[in-house]
Amino acid sequence: MFEPYVVTVSSEKGGVGKTTLATNLAIYLKALNEELPVTLFSFDNHFSVDRMFRLGRTKPKGDMLDLLCGTPLADLLELGEYGVQFIPSSRKLESIAHRINRCDVLAKALAGSDLKGIIIIDTRPTLDIFTQNALFAADRVIVPVKDTPSLENCRNLYDFFEDQGLSKRSLRLLPCLIDSRVHYDGPFKNAYQLVKGYAINRGYRCLEGYIAKSPKVESLNTNPEGKIYPVLTHGRGTNVHLQFAHLARQVFINAKEETQRRLEQVRQENEEIEQNRDKNFLTRRDLLLHDCLICGRQLVHHNAMEPASYFYTTSDGQVAGFLDEACFCALVFRHCYHTQKKINATDPLVDLFRESALRSYFILGHTHDSVTAGTHNLLFYRFDEEGFEISHKSIELRKTETRFLNKGPSALYRLASKTLFHEDTPIKERFLFIRRINSEFPEDILLDENYAQLDAAMHYIGSKLSLNPMD
Ligand SMILES: Nc1ncnc2c1ncn2[C@@H]1O[C@H](COP(=O)(O)OP(=O)(O)OP(=O)(O)O)[C@@H](O)[C@H]1O
Ligand SMILES: [Mg+2]
Repeated sequence: MFEPYVVTVSSEKGGVGKTTLATNLAIYLKALNEELPVTLFSFDNHFSVDRMFRLGRTKPKGDMLDLLCGTPLADLLELGEYGVQFIPSSRKLESIAHRINRCDVLAKALAGSDLKGIIIIDTRPTLDIFTQNALFAADRVIVPVKDTPSLENCRNLYDFFEDQGLSKRSLRLLPCLIDSRVHYDGPFKNAYQLVKGYAINRGYRCLEGYIAKSPKVESLNTNPEGKIYPVLTHGRGTNVHLQFAHLARQVFINAKEETQRRLEQVRQENEEIEQNRDKNFLTRRDLLLHDCLICGRQLVHHNAMEPASYFYTTSDGQVAGFLDEACFCALVFRHCYHTQKKINATDPLVDLFRESALRSYFILGHTHDSVTAGTHNLLFYRFDEEGFEISHKSIELRKTETRFLNKGPSALYRLASKTLFHEDTPIKERFLFIRRINSEFPEDILLDENYAQLDAAMHYIGSKLSLNPMD
């Protein structure tokens, strides 16, 4: 079976013939080999794909936006005219652009599907996130160029490939809308030779041949049925017909000869990322202390976790675990609000704290000259999610305290002694980083995607504290 080969048609210049190229290439490829599944995805904003491929008055199953938002490919693919499958463009692409902030969304969706054959992606005349997704998934990028401005625009495509670490071998320019009636004196005899010469001069590779500017092609868009007709059925006997046929053969041969597939590469990279993600998760999980340091309740079991509300880790990652909701809350109320009485879980203040803690990072650390005449002071900071300090407070660390007629190790000592001290000697450079958990599965915080955010915040806050050392 023909493993999926993705051809993206892209140029930042508008009106260079991208959609004409993408749609006709799909039809010529299908005509070349009936067995070959050919699929067309459109990000175009003229919605020509619908006019060209929709069978009768069938209702669209969905569009490219649905695919990017997670709808399975199989639920969206439609079989259209000329045996080409397609997914139309969406009128809401712009409104969602800010939510798609990665360029591998489409590649991952395709890599996770069982789509075969050749997939052609038509793009808009901009390097927006949708075009980036189409480029990221591509085995072959065809860049139609018709003049010097469209050639200059190629630089950005090459830069995108450079930035993403993608092979630029997949990029190929194709002179399009070439006026074959124009002839020049000098080394370049016509517009095709000129554009091709300029391209090669700039180090760009070109496909063989070109697509000429043809009144026939222009006329295929305008007819009483409101359809767009393909060159294959309505432009036989023209030069553009031969040019499209030649182009389709090149693409087909390239696809057959190419042994490595981009989507397969994406799939393998994903697998590696998943394996590393699992490994990192288990490494972090193995390091967790099992009990809440303050009350001693076991929160981490071999295969499961008790619900817990706060995650802590030392700044060097050596000691980490969870804290019971009530324990941490009581600690903060005792030392920051000087509450002496037992905290009632239904107290509205507790609710307020619990809610605002979701958007905070808490830090407990040593002061610089913290050991004075038998007492030791710690600093307790609260930062917001942007890393701005909300408050800080110096707290005396007492080993014992009498609470509700019981005398024993203080809650603060229980927390600090196991994290900020080694056998009662302060580990000066360490601080304790505490974050409220926002999930019913506390261990989710250990997953790469969540932990990375935590780690970045910890480093950012750490760097602020070392610039502005704890006094
Ligand atoms: N080979 C050709 N000969 C003559 N006209 C053409 C040819 N190719 C495309 N055109 C015409 O040029 C116009 C622009 O073509 P097309 O829509 O394919 O460009 P595009 O690059 O997709 O544009 P956009 O960037 O706006 O999406 C259309 O009217 C189309 O009919
Ligand atoms: Mg277009």
